[in-house]
Amino acid sequence: MKRTLPLPFWIAHRGAGKLAPENTLAAFRLGAQHGYRAFECDVKLSRDGVPFLLHDSTLNRTTSARGRAAERDWSELSRLDAGGWHSRAFAGEPLMSLEALAAFILANRFALNIEIKPTPGQEFETGEVVGREVLRLWAGQTSLPVFSSFQPEALRGARASAPEVPRGLLLDGLRAGWLDEAQALGCQAVISNYNLMDAATVARIHGADMRALVYTVNDEAAVRWLRANGVDGIITDAVDKFSPVG
Ligand code: G3P
Ligand code: MG
Repeated sequence: MKRTLPLPFWIAHRGAGKLAPENTLAAFRLGAQHGYRAFECDVKLSRDGVPFLLHDSTLNRTTSARGRAAERDWSELSRLDAGGWHSRAFAGEPLMSLEALAAFILANRFALNIEIKPTPGQEFETGEVVGREVLRLWAGQTSLPVFSSFQPEALRGARASAPEVPRGLLLDGLRAGWLDEAQALGCQAVISNYNLMDAATVARIHGADMRALVYTVNDEAAVRWLRANGVDGIITDAVDKFSPVG
């Protein structure tokens, strides 16, 4: 039987791509205003073990602070400005905990792809903590998020604490044994850089009863090529360009 993922075809990258400060509530709201019903986000741990949204290991690019995010407690992180770097309109926008994002996602019945983006050295622990937190936040819900990670150890951690939450292996290259690796991790999806996802690769993934998704597609010609190749989902920044219907 073909396994399905709890994700629609179109997924908004980091909330609303580059139109709002990535991984903040402002971005998810903007993506939703463009009709998106599924979102990708990047999650790591604060020093005191709170899962929160941030792409980089350091705070430098996307907040008002400097240095490693993993060296600060959530009480401190939650007071930073994570919007002013983007534009004045978003100044003061805070970082977001996974708990706050869950409230927004569940209230709206949206779907969520949680990319586990561990601070280096914290791969297993981050997956394990995020898994536990998702089971707490989504308790009693019929539809769960989907985990993904470039780090197999993070997926192992998530599987240890939340085996029932579907997993996808992220790939930025087709390294030797990638399909076996995804299967050994019990993944239901492979999510690759879109340049890698030709028809033969999609067929191999489907042949292993997994879904084939791609990131980060912002170009119409690429969308046509990927659809013709049979991909099952697209993560995009271009929420103002691609209608998520169909
Ligand atoms: O999850 C897909 C995509 O977000 C992976 O790359 O660097 O944008 O997190 P990155
Ligand atoms: Mg990501």
